[in-house]
Amino acid sequence: MPECEADGTEEGLSDVPEQLRTQLTPRQFVKFGLTSEALRSYVPLIADEVIDFLKRSPSFKGPKGTLDVPIKMAELTIYTASRSLQGKEVRSKFDSSFADLYHHLDMGFSPINFMLPWAPLPHNRKRDYAQQKMSQTYMEIIKARRDTGVKKDEDDMIWNLMSCAYKNGTPLPDNEIAHMMIALLMAGQHSSSSTSAWIMLCLATRPDILEELYQEQLSLLGADLPPLTYDALQRLSLNSQVVKETLRLHAPIHSIMRKVKSPMPVDGTPYTIPISHVLLAAPGVSSLSPEHFPNPEKWEPHRWDAGNAKDEEDDETVDYGYGLVSKGASSPYLPFGAGRHRCIGEQFAYVQLGTITAMLVRSLKWRNPAGVEGVVGTDYSVSRASSMKFSLLASGR
Ligand code: HEM
Repeated sequence: MPECEADGTEEGLSDVPEQLRTQLTPRQFVKFGLTSEALRSYVPLIADEVIDFLKRSPSFKGPKGTLDVPIKMAELTIYTASRSLQGKEVRSKFDSSFADLYHHLDMGFSPINFMLPWAPLPHNRKRDYAQQKMSQTYMEIIKARRDTGVKKDEDDMIWNLMSCAYKNGTPLPDNEIAHMMIALLMAGQHSSSSTSAWIMLCLATRPDILEELYQEQLSLLGADLPPLTYDALQRLSLNSQVVKETLRLHAPIHSIMRKVKSPMPVDGTPYTIPISHVLLAAPGVSSLSPEHFPNPEKWEPHRWDAGNAKDEEDDETVDYGYGLVSKGASSPYLPFGAGRHRCIGEQFAYVQLGTITAMLVRSLKWRNPAGVEGVVGTDYSVSRASSMKFSLLASGR
C-alpha cells in the first residue's frame, strides 16, 4: 500500500484540466514528503553538518580569520540540504563526484539559456552530460535501496518518493524520482544559500542582534546549549525573525510571473488584461513600501515581534491538493510567492536557515573587516554579483 498517492483530483483540483492535473502531481508528491515529522528529523542532521563544516573548513581554523561569505554559505547550504532532504548517499557523493556535476548543471542557468536553451555551447554540453550522470546516480541509489532490502531509517525525500504511487496504483518510476530530486536540489540551493549569506552580512553590522540571538539560546535552551532540536528551534523566535527580515530585504527571487489564461478584469478600472499577457509581481516592491513596513530600508528583525508584526498574510486558505495552505496573495510579504505555485520548500528553508543561523551563533562571533561599513545593497544583475567579494572577520566564542 503506497504511503502517498495523487492524481490531481483532490478537493480544489477537480476543476483543473486533465493535462494540468498531471503537471501538478510532482508538486503534490514532494509536498507529502515535507511533513513536520520529516522536518523534525532534519534539524539534528543539519546541526551536525554545521559543526562538521566548522571543524573541516580552513576558514574556521584558529581563533579568528576571514571568510568569503557567499562561497562558504553555498558550500554549507549544499551539505546541509543533501544530508537532510536528499539523503545520506547523496551527501556522501558531494565529497566526490557530485560537486563538479552540480556545478556544470548550475552553469546551465545562464541568461542566454532563457532564449536558446538548446544552443550547442560548451557549457550546455557539460550541463546536459551532468544532468544525465546525476539522474543515473539517483537511479542507482534507488535501485541499491530496493535491491539490498535496506530498511528505511531516515525521512529523506528519496524514501518518500519511492513510496508514492499514482491514483491508479502505478509507482512513481525511478527516472521521475531522479528528475524530481534534481529539480529540488536546484530549486533550493541558490535561494537558501544567498539568504544565509545575507543573514551573515546583516548580522555582521548588528553586534547587538548577534548577541541577543546568543542570549536567546542561553535563556530558552539552557546555559549548556544542548543539541539543537526542532522543538527548540520553534522556541527561538528572534532567530526565525532574523530569517524573515532578511528575506524581506533580500528576497532571492525578484520576479514572480503568471500567464493570463482567461481575460482578467482589473477591479475598479475599465481595464481587462487579455489572455497571453504575462503578469509580474516583484516581492521587493511591496516589501520596501513604507505603507506596509515603517522605515523599510532598515534591517530590523524586531519589527516582527509579536504585536508589531504586520505581514498582512491574508487568512484565506485553499487546498491545492496537499492540505490547506494560506493563499497569501494579498500579503505585501511575498518572498515565497503566493497562490497555487507558492514555494513548496518554505518550511524546509526555515528549518535549514534557522538551524544554520542558530548553530553559527553558538560557535562564532563575526563582523565586517576594517574599513567596511554596513551591508551592500541587493543587486540582482548577474555579472556584478558574481564578481563581488564579501568577506567577514569571524572568531570563536
Ligand atoms: C529562502 C529560500 C527560498 C525562497 C525565498 C524561495 C522562493 C520561491 C519562489 C518566490 C517561488 C515561486 C513562487 C510563485 O510562483 O508563486 C518558488 C517556487 C518553488 N520553490 Fe522555492 N524558495 C526557497 C527555497 C526552496 C527550497 C529549499 C525548495 C526545495 C526543497 C524549493 C522548491 C521550490 C519549488 C519546487 C518551486 C516551484 C513551485 C511551483 O511552481 O509549483 N524552494 N520558491
